[in-house]
Amino acid sequence: MKSIGICAALVGVGLFGAVVVSAESGKYDGGDTSGEANGVTMAAEDIVATRRAGYFLSTQAVGQIKAGIEEGGDLRRTRAGAMMLANWAKAIPTLFPEGTDLESSRALSTVWSDRPGFEARAVAYREAALNLAETAATGDREASDSAFRAMAGTCHACHQTYREE
Ligand code: HEC
Repeated sequence: MKSIGICAALVGVGLFGAVVVSAESGKYDGGDTSGEANGVTMAAEDIVATRRAGYFLSTQAVGQIKAGIEEGGDLRRTRAGAMMLANWAKAIPTLFPEGTDLESSRALSTVWSDRPGFEARAVAYREAALNLAETAATGDREASDSAFRAMAGTCHACHQTYREE
């Protein structure tokens, strides 16, 4: 009797677990890293469009960062914008796979011929954005302004070598 009771309890836990999983299944779970999911492919044109959209969105974050610094009040907007850019910076190299050096792209072929240099620029960008977020959290406006300029410098540094114009 006792062992049946334990089995019933385990089945109960199992069912409960299943219910929890299905209730959660509509939510983003951080991504499926199974081999099957890794086989997903995306058209090169779509990858270029995605990264261009990301760059245009990042200019909006830059606007929020600047407004936070220039318009007084607390620096929450600045910090939030900097965190967005730090996350975006992390994604940048993944959006430049081999085979996406297309006509529709402004990326120079150096992105692929000097991959380590390109990735180092993305890391420098991410670190500058994180530094800005930390500085903004202290509420120091002047230091945040310098941290913002330093971060903007990392955009230009990358564009100089890896983007047309
Ligand atoms: C690690 C290198 C790198 C960094 C850092 C970087 N960019 Fe870029 N950016 C690029 C490349 C390469 C392109 C061209 C993408 C394409 O057309 O495929 C680009 C394109 C852009 C575009 C144009 C999108 C278009 O379709 O014309 C804007 C706007 C832009 N970046 C803004 C920024 C801003 C603002 C920052 C910093 C806050 C920044 N970028 C940081 C490499 C970088």
